[in-house]
Amino acid sequence: MASPTGSPQRDSWGSHAGFVLAAIGSAVGLGNMWRFSYVAAEGGGAAFVLLYLGFVAFVGVPVMTSELLVGRLAQVSPIEALKRLGGPRWAPLGMLFAFCGLGILSYYSVIAGWTMRYSFDAIRGALPDDAAGYFARVGTGMPAVLTHVLFMAITITIVVGGIKKGLERTAIVLMPLLFVLLVGLAIWATTLSGGGPGYAYYLRPRLSELLDPAIITDAAGQAFFSLSLGMGALMTYASYLRSKENLVKETLTIAVADFGVAFLAGLFIFPIIFHFDLVETLGLGGELNTDSTVGTLFIAMPAAVRSLGRMGNAVIAAFFIMLFFAALTSAISLLEVVVSAAIDSWHWSRQKAAIVAGATITLLGIPSALNLNVLDVGDKLVGTVLLMVGGFFTSIMVGYKILPQAEQELSLGLDNPMAIKVWRNLVRYLVPPVLLVVLIFSIPKLVTAVKTLFGV
Ligand code: PFF
Repeated sequence: MASPTGSPQRDSWGSHAGFVLAAIGSAVGLGNMWRFSYVAAEGGGAAFVLLYLGFVAFVGVPVMTSELLVGRLAQVSPIEALKRLGGPRWAPLGMLFAFCGLGILSYYSVIAGWTMRYSFDAIRGALPDDAAGYFARVGTGMPAVLTHVLFMAITITIVVGGIKKGLERTAIVLMPLLFVLLVGLAIWATTLSGGGPGYAYYLRPRLSELLDPAIITDAAGQAFFSLSLGMGALMTYASYLRSKENLVKETLTIAVADFGVAFLAGLFIFPIIFHFDLVETLGLGGELNTDSTVGTLFIAMPAAVRSLGRMGNAVIAAFFIMLFFAALTSAISLLEVVVSAAIDSWHWSRQKAAIVAGATITLLGIPSALNLNVLDVGDKLVGTVLLMVGGFFTSIMVGYKILPQAEQELSLGLDNPMAIKVWRNLVRYLVPPVLLVVLIFSIPKLVTAVKTLFGV
């Protein structure tokens, strides 16, 4: 079927449900477990969670709706879409998106590689008791480079297969399975003695922390990262949409699913941390600390669950296999942003675009596999700040430059016209100033991260 823009061979979703599931697949990933648990742990637990929820609802949701409607309206990759709708001055925003795709996937794949290694060793029954020592061996250096390369090879292979074949099938089977496993783990965690303070830390906010600029920045950045916002990933997915259904409903479905998974992850991570007395080991509440960055999930979780013996080993294997697949569906969307840009802008074949972009990302990720500080800086700079920059400009473009067109597009398939009014007010008057303040707040953290990298 020809798209409205006249490129007859452009892919499209086989079904609407396929689109929604793949968008959830993009959102739900390492961000919900690895990143959510460590940023929440660093950010005082409950205060972070509350702020995060606020950013998801009042900033993330309107930005996501904006991305989806731009994609569906333009039916082309973000660079072209922004150019067509907003004029050539908006093309650099699309380039920033592609840059974020390259940057984030380069380190994301390193972490996803760890999940492969953990799965493999858990299946073989070869996970040692010393979780911290094990992580030190497999998390950096050559073993990490190898799993990173392997993960990228798998991601490239799927993206070469195209939208329908590659993404829908993977997403449809795995998302519900992951959810069930997380519910099981959260229920198991309630049986742990001494988990009470963990729940309190996670669920009872201390008011003073709600005003802490560092925690506010972390919460906002996490909302962007976890919802796959600020770099055109969902814009790209929506550009393969043909039918005009209710975008607000879809945004809410994606956001609720994403928040639900992260929240469940916290429900088992925090009791574990307190039950096993890992608070000090992980350096929680302190400054930027690579131990807590990786430790909250990759050390605490296996250390705890292994204490269950054989059964624990099976749970660890299942958990990391699911996490691997969740990471894969997110990685596919990260690569897809870069690939769709190359296809639409340079008329490359899908295969060539996926291989060239994938190989570049694989090389870019090697420093992160060799040095965790590089990974940290990449995550603070690209995975937090640049995503918010992308979200800021997206809201300006949609809220001020193309508002009438955007409202018209949003009204298609919408059953409640009030939703347009709410969305318009949020995207024009709330999102831009809030993001500006948060971006200013984020400067000190960024400086600390860069200083850590250069050992200053
Ligand atoms: N949302 C993904 C996660 O939480 O793991 C990561 C991600 C995917 C970020 C796609 C940004 C993106 F465009």
